[in-house]
Amino acid sequence: MVEKVYVPPIKIQGIKTKLVGLISEAAYMDDTMVWFEPFMGSGVVGLNLAPKHAVFADTNPHVIAFYNGIKKGSINSYIVRGYLEKEGRLLAEKDEEHYYYVRDRFNEEHDPLDFLFLNRSCFNGMIRFNKNYKFNVPYGHKPERFAKAYVTKVVNQVKRLETIFPERDWKFKCQSFTDTIREATEADFVYCDPPYIGRHVDYYDSWDEEQEILLRDTLYASGAKFMLSTWDENKYRKNEYIHTVWKGCYKLNKEHFYHVGAKEENRNSMMEALLTNYDPATVPHQKNESYEQLSFVIPQMTKQVAG
Ligand SMILES: C[S@@+](CC[C@H](N)C(=O)[O-])C[C@H]1O[C@@H](n2cnc3c(N)ncnc32)[C@H](O)[C@@H]1O
Repeated sequence: MVEKVYVPPIKIQGIKTKLVGLISEAAYMDDTMVWFEPFMGSGVVGLNLAPKHAVFADTNPHVIAFYNGIKKGSINSYIVRGYLEKEGRLLAEKDEEHYYYVRDRFNEEHDPLDFLFLNRSCFNGMIRFNKNYKFNVPYGHKPERFAKAYVTKVVNQVKRLETIFPERDWKFKCQSFTDTIREATEADFVYCDPPYIGRHVDYYDSWDEEQEILLRDTLYASGAKFMLSTWDENKYRKNEYIHTVWKGCYKLNKEHFYHVGAKEENRNSMMEALLTNYDPATVPHQKNESYEQLSFVIPQMTKQVAG
């Protein structure tokens, strides 16, 4: 069970910081199995659970390049400090002119450090690309995010990874979820956090019913134990796919509150769900004892998984 959650240096929409504790309680993990995370995003889940063997993957090449940079040593806490201090000074001096200068440079050269800079200085920390795969989020107008204490925080986040990477057998791959899950065997564990169906679309991040079904079929074909993050319901809608595509899974819930604007009445809640293909009560280290099982029938494959 993870007690203290470390925040990674790259942030992403849909980051699961608040679910790390519950996921760590309900996931199977030991030193012999491989932890597969086909939609790693920021990596907050696996990087905190810190399995011995892992494959982290995503179709966003910039996230993968950043973590591979740390793994190979071309990115380290010393380099990150120097880089953020220098770019932070230029941002304080030239403000948005410098933001757009770095954004253009990133779109030409794809330097992972520029990706870190944009992730910190763009509007709302969003990661969004246009149809030509150019990063297109506008400036966030918060140059104070490069103040000394703030830079130190990011440097420490990188330092932690620098320390644990050599002790672990971790691979970072830029590939689609199907390629990642096909590497898993019955002895392994797959944690999936795909873009939420019906909720968000981006060029590295488009998701529809066909993808959701392909994900389910690929997961069952692997024979691995798996856990899937998805949304359950909010004030307006329910996620019907839980009862159709994912029928047969066990479900754990956690309520998540978020604000739209500053007013208290705009505080909305969203029920998050974790679906598993095994009974989480059988996980040796878990504490919770009551899980809802959606149905006792394991879903049939609706089509062959593409070969
Ligand atoms: C909801 S985010 C994952 C967030 C992550 N669990 C975290 O806590 O930071 C979904 C991720 O899936 C990636 N993605 C979208 N489509 C994909 C695909 N077909 N194969 C692999 N990754 C994909 C996106 O780039 C994004 O990083």
